[in-house]
Amino acid sequence: MASITIRNLDDETKQLLRERAARHGRSMEEEVRHMLRHATGAPASSATAEQPAIAAPPAGALSGKRILLVITGGIAAYKSLDLIRRLRERGAGVRPVMTEASKHFISTLAVGALAADRVFDDLFSREDEQDVGHIRLAREADLVLIAPASADFIGKMALGIANDLASTILLAASCPVLIAPAMNPSMWRHPAVRRNVETVRRDGVRLIGPMRGEMAESGEAGLGRMAEPLEIAAAAEALLDDGPKPLTGRRAIVTSGPTHEPIDPVRYIANRSSGKQGHAIAAALARLGADVTLISGPVAISDPGNVTTIQVESAREMLAAVEGQLPADIAVMVAAVADWRAAGQADEKIKKQPGEAPPPLLLTENPDILKTVGHHEKRPALVVGFAAETQNLEDNARAKLQRKGADWIVANDVSPDTGIMGGDHNRVRIVSQSGIEDWPRMDKQSVADRLALAIAKSFEDINASGS
Ligand code: C5P
Repeated sequence: MASITIRNLDDETKQLLRERAARHGRSMEEEVRHMLRHATGAPASSATAEQPAIAAPPAGALSGKRILLVITGGIAAYKSLDLIRRLRERGAGVRPVMTEASKHFISTLAVGALAADRVFDDLFSREDEQDVGHIRLAREADLVLIAPASADFIGKMALGIANDLASTILLAASCPVLIAPAMNPSMWRHPAVRRNVETVRRDGVRLIGPMRGEMAESGEAGLGRMAEPLEIAAAAEALLDDGPKPLTGRRAIVTSGPTHEPIDPVRYIANRSSGKQGHAIAAALARLGADVTLISGPVAISDPGNVTTIQVESAREMLAAVEGQLPADIAVMVAAVADWRAAGQADEKIKKQPGEAPPPLLLTENPDILKTVGHHEKRPALVVGFAAETQNLEDNARAKLQRKGADWIVANDVSPDTGIMGGDHNRVRIVSQSGIEDWPRMDKQSVADRLALAIAKSFEDINASGS
């Protein structure tokens, strides 16, 4: 498809397009292509996917907001250029601050041009500091966003060190701070980094990512990649969203993703759950004002920026984390918890012995987290479970409602031909004591938004009935 010049559109059309694109999590060019494809009936090309991996929350939260974007030194800084575009497409003003190290990776010229602002980089700038520029920069921001946030910079934040413009601004800032960490997985795992991340989290800083995946260094992979610009923009949007907050004061626990059940130090039993639906529900509840703890098994997607995430591996770890979060008002158990684990975990890697038969894999039952919560002495007022079925969907869901002590079961058909498991869409039925509601097929983000609204409504009904 030929290139599209958005610049030549009039301002009103541009604004409408910007809002529509933000709503669908696409760039403005992608949105125009999408509209043209629809108008002409042309098939979607794989380069411009029909549905974004992460759908943006409702447009508008970033419109008119001033974002101070701090770019620190790391190879992921190249993604910050795209991030500036994504933020500006959503109507935000971006004021860039660069550390000295970041200039080894991208130029001030590119950053300034994309942000349509000058780059601030000097704590001792004669012009800026006449009116105490670092304090002004901090006060004029609605959000300080640090992307990429290097291990070094997170360490400075944890200690309150202020030895350049970026770190000094942070000490003067009273607005929300969101960081998108990016570093090698072994650095991310280092105890010093773990401590620093925990400290900044406790100081109220929000995190988006890092993600699991390939590193810039060849052959390296793991948890440490910076979240993608669209995900960072969505997290910023969620943080600044000042829509209605009917769940303010409510605590929610959401489980998400698969569990990994170890067989020996290198092998495990797992399943295909991506965590997309659970993570989206956690973020949607938080957008409505709930204080959300997301307990996630190993997934390749990043943590939502507006919730506290606890990462676990096995079902038993997940159960301990869930019980540790009680009491709560709401529990939404979305995780695809493994029903069985290996009966005994070998301490050493099980060796293949030439000529010998394969070792038997003995299984034992895992705890049922939903059932435990549904019958717990600290049972949340609303307990929601999921039922991923490939047959007799409604009957199984109804039976599960009773057996597990849940108030609602969100039932979905995960037969391979539905593409639901690991995909971006879902078609669910909500089964409760009062009947079954059939929801149309929609993206997982929309399922999450609708479920969060239904949860908020159920609490309104409880309040209205005075119980
Ligand atoms: O029994 P089944 O696995 O189909 O039940 C699915 C529901 O139960 C989901 O909400 C899932 O999160 C939860 N579950 C659980 N612990 C298990 C198994 C399932 O919390 N061990």
